[in-house]
Amino acid sequence: MIEPTKQGIWITGASSGIGRAAVFEFARTGAKVFASARRADELQKINESLKNEHAGIDVLPCNVASYQEVEQTVKKITSAHNINCLINNAGITSFKRAENNSIQEINDVINTNLLGAVYAIKSVLPYMKEQGGGTIINTISVAAKKIFLNSSIYAASKAGLLAYTNSLREEVRGYNIKIINVVPGATETPIWREEVRNEKGDKMMKAEDIGRLLVWLYNQDGSMVTEEIVLRPITGDL
Ligand SMILES: NC(=O)c1ccc[n+]([C@@H]2O[C@H](COP(=O)([O-])OP(=O)(O)OC[C@H]3O[C@@H](n4cnc5c(N)ncnc54)[C@H](OP(=O)(O)O)[C@@H]3O)[C@@H](O)[C@H]2O)c1
Repeated sequence: MIEPTKQGIWITGASSGIGRAAVFEFARTGAKVFASARRADELQKINESLKNEHAGIDVLPCNVASYQEVEQTVKKITSAHNINCLINNAGITSFKRAENNSIQEINDVINTNLLGAVYAIKSVLPYMKEQGGGTIINTISVAAKKIFLNSSIYAASKAGLLAYTNSLREEVRGYNIKIINVVPGATETPIWREEVRNEKGDKMMKAEDIGRLLVWLYNQDGSMVTEEIVLRPITGDL
């Protein structure tokens, strides 16, 4: 049975960092949160700690690099609920010179950051059209817009997703589907090596601040949509 009264929010990359923070922030609004990542144990820990203050979340382990897993996850969610919002947040990096990236690393970054998000979008679009609208929020990166050394494959994955979603937005305007691209700079999460976090963590943005912004972006109403928002630490890029 569909529970249309609660907003259904599907967050990928929910086991850590920005996605994890978003799970807490959305759950506190009373939304129905579907949390996906590969590590089911980490998602379950989040669920346990939220149960103390809230009804909990739905844990749906899913590797976004697998179209089959993405499709199955969307089927599970939509069998009982609407997907009002998809947050495409799952992501990995490889900070190396281009020639030093292995083929495996190249495939993993593109398959997760670009194709994973494309698979999730392709899978939710028919449901969003049928339910009369929806919101798709993508965690891009300033690396899609500014040149950083040792980031070529990561930059390609994020610039690819930016181009894909900017084109998609034009296709879905008539269906009440909002496409919001969030373009963050350095944020203190486990995506950074521990030495970097120890040395530069105090100059980075906090995942919780981005989590709260995602809730705000989703909840903005009226006649407008924030199509793209660039976020940087106050002191600038690292
Ligand atoms: N931190 C920054 O400075 C920064 C800046 C700009 C943009 N971003 C972007 O923000 C997003 C979140 O990153 P974060 O900083 O929060 O890093 P993080 O703490 O490492 O979180 C990454 C999340 O993605 C999940 N993930 C990775 N591969 C996956 C896969 N194949 N399928 C499903 N989930 C997968 C991880 O969970 P599992 O390992 O459990 O699968 C984890 O939950 C990423 O897209 C990243 O590129 C981060």
